[in-house]
Amino acid sequence: MYSANVCTLKMKYAVALLIVTVLATVASGAVIQGIRRSNLSQGYVYPGDRLLSRHYLSQPARPNTIQYQDYTYRGNYSTRISAVTATEVGYTQYASAWVIAGGVGYSSVTVRVQSAKGYGYNFVIDVWGR
Ligand SMILES: *[C@@H]1O[C@H](CO)[C@@H](O)[C@H](O)[C@H]1NC(C)=O
Ligand SMILES: *[C@@H]1O[C@H](CO)[C@@H](O)[C@H](O)[C@H]1NC(C)=O
Repeated sequence: MYSANVCTLKMKYAVALLIVTVLATVASGAVIQGIRRSNLSQGYVYPGDRLLSRHYLSQPARPNTIQYQDYTYRGNYSTRISAVTATEVGYTQYASAWVIAGGVGYSSVTVRVQSAKGYGYNFVIDVWGR
């Protein structure tokens, strides 16, 4: 009787652990897909680097909708990007930004910004390099 109870408890514990693991996996998957709120910061600004581009992207909230937009900076043949940042301006709207092409070490970069469902976004995207 007693040991049977312990066994049931252990099983419940194992099932609970399993559920937590599955939830954690789903959550980290969400981060990769850019559903979680986040700023973008890739690379480092070195002495001698210049701000090659500063660009603002914003959209007002739209009910029940996830909105996204891509911004591309294209340098010339000698451009080397050293850092790319996208920072939410003002109060957070739980938006995300990530690099979908090029980036640090390349001459061009494409950044995608995406709103949370039912929210808008307001980002400033900076590209540094030389
Ligand atoms: C993104 O950057 C803004 C401005 O610096 C800051 O207020 C906000 O907390 C940052 N968001 C995250 C998730 O770090
Ligand atoms: C190429 O781009 C760099 C910035 O990355 C700029 O400083 C340079 O003047 C450009 N060269 C030409 C030929 O346009």
